[in-house]
This record gives sequence, structure tokens and C-alpha cells, in this order.
Amino acid sequence: MEIIIQPTPEDCARIGGKMVDALLRQKANAVLGLATGSTPVPLYQELVRMRREDDLDFSGVTTFNLDEYIGLPGDHPCSYRHFMQQQLFNHINVRPERTHVPNGLAVDIKAECNAYESAIQAVGGIDLQVLGLGADGHIAFNEPVSSLGSRTRIKTLTQKTREDNARFFDSIDDVPRHCITMGVGTIMECRKLLLFAFGESKAEVIAEAVEGPIRAMVPASALQLHQNVKILVDEAAASKLQQRDYYKEVFSNKPDWQRAGREEH
Ligand code: F6R
Repeated sequence: MEIIIQPTPEDCARIGGKMVDALLRQKANAVLGLATGSTPVPLYQELVRMRREDDLDFSGVTTFNLDEYIGLPGDHPCSYRHFMQQQLFNHINVRPERTHVPNGLAVDIKAECNAYESAIQAVGGIDLQVLGLGADGHIAFNEPVSSLGSRTRIKTLTQKTREDNARFFDSIDDVPRHCITMGVGTIMECRKLLLFAFGESKAEVIAEAVEGPIRAMVPASALQLHQNVKILVDEAAASKLQQRDYYKEVFSNKPDWQRAGREEH
């Protein structure tokens, strides 16, 4: 694991943007895995800026989002499809038919989940997956005690997650109780993982995920078994990491070209 600590979320987003840029320049038809929520917003703003100012080309890119609420149509203002359109897809030159978000209105949810897994396989897997971190340790919507080998499936959201996400809805009663989410196993098969976490509210859980034992109660801790994962955190989220001085030293000793994501860690 490589832990990169930066002063602000925007600094983390610039580094994440460089990694996406390096990937797309090396592989124009790359497959990007994307997340929703507040955390990836600075990264998406950076990608939109890079499209506008640096001509970053998304025309060959395919995307897969991690999850979607069950029961919300794609044009619902709180659906993750809508979020992605607003935050990213409408502002870059990705081809709409190559953007994938699970269908929260699917009648046969199991078939939808299996089809999602097959679609990922059909394009050769995900090159780079962006992840946020839930305060309860979830990645995507793999809530505590999710199987660490799980695949795309239906999950019940915890009360904590529904409370955390209520800020996007009129009231907590409107927050769906179920979602379709990629599994931990699905995420572990992505070739590169980029997990972002910002703010003091994520400090404890990031320390557990990165420095604690691997356990289903903290699904993000499974990332410790992945061979190419970068954790991008601001100072506030890093505040409870025991080894934070060491992580800073490692990063500051890297050459610029390596920091720009052009080398595997
Ligand atoms: C969203 C997702 C979730 C969020 C997590 C953090 O697609 O997969 O795991 O990344 O709930 O949410 P924020 O970023 O809003 O704190």
C-alpha cells in the first residue's frame, strides 16, 4: 500500500488526476471504475479541468460505477447515475453508451448484478478504480461483515450509512434501504485502486483500514491484500495514522515522474 498524505483534498485530487492522465495517455481505451459521494468531487472537478484545459481525451474510455440505490430511477436527483452525469459525464467527452451504473430499477436484481459482472469481464476488467471510504469501513456499499470475496449483489444499507447519506435527501426516510454494489472481490480484481478519504470524520476508520487487522467488520481493510493500491488522504484524515511520518518520508523521496503515477508501486 502506498499512503499519500497531502494538505488538502484538492492536492489529493491533483495527484489522482495525474494518475488518470498517465493511464489514459498510455491506454486510450482504459476502463475506469468510479465512485460517488462527496469524496470524489474534487477529483472529478480536476478531470473536468484537465479535459477543458489540457485536452485530456476520454473518448475511448469505458466507466463502471461502484453502486446505485435500489428504487431510484437514473434521472432522480439523488440517484448515482444522476450524480455522475452532473459531476463528470456531462463535462467530458466520454461516450454515454460506455458509462455504466447499476440499474436501480431492475426487476430481476440478481440478473442485473450478474450482467454487471459480465460487462466488466467483457471489457477486460477495470484498470483503475476510484474509491471513497464509509465511516463504518465500507468500500462501495460493502457494509461491515460483507464477505471479502463478494461479487456485485444487493446489500442492505446500515443505519449509519443511511444517516450519513441523508444530507443528499429531503429526509432520512427518503434514503433507500437497499442498493446494488460491486463486491469486495470485484474491487480486488481491479488492476489499480485509488482510495480517497478526507476530513477528521474519516481519521479513525482510515487508520483501522490501513494499519488494523484485515477483517470483515472493516471491509476496506481487505485492500491490504491488493498489490497496487494508493491511499490519498488529507492531513485531517491522516491524523490517526501511527506511521504517518514514515508515509510522508516515502512519498517525499520519490522522483517526480513516479509521483505522477507513471510507475507501479
Ligand atoms: C459511493 C460509495 C461509498 C462512498 C462512501 C463515502 O459510490 O461507494 O463507498 O464512497 O460512502 O461517502 P462520502 O464520500 O460521501 O463520504
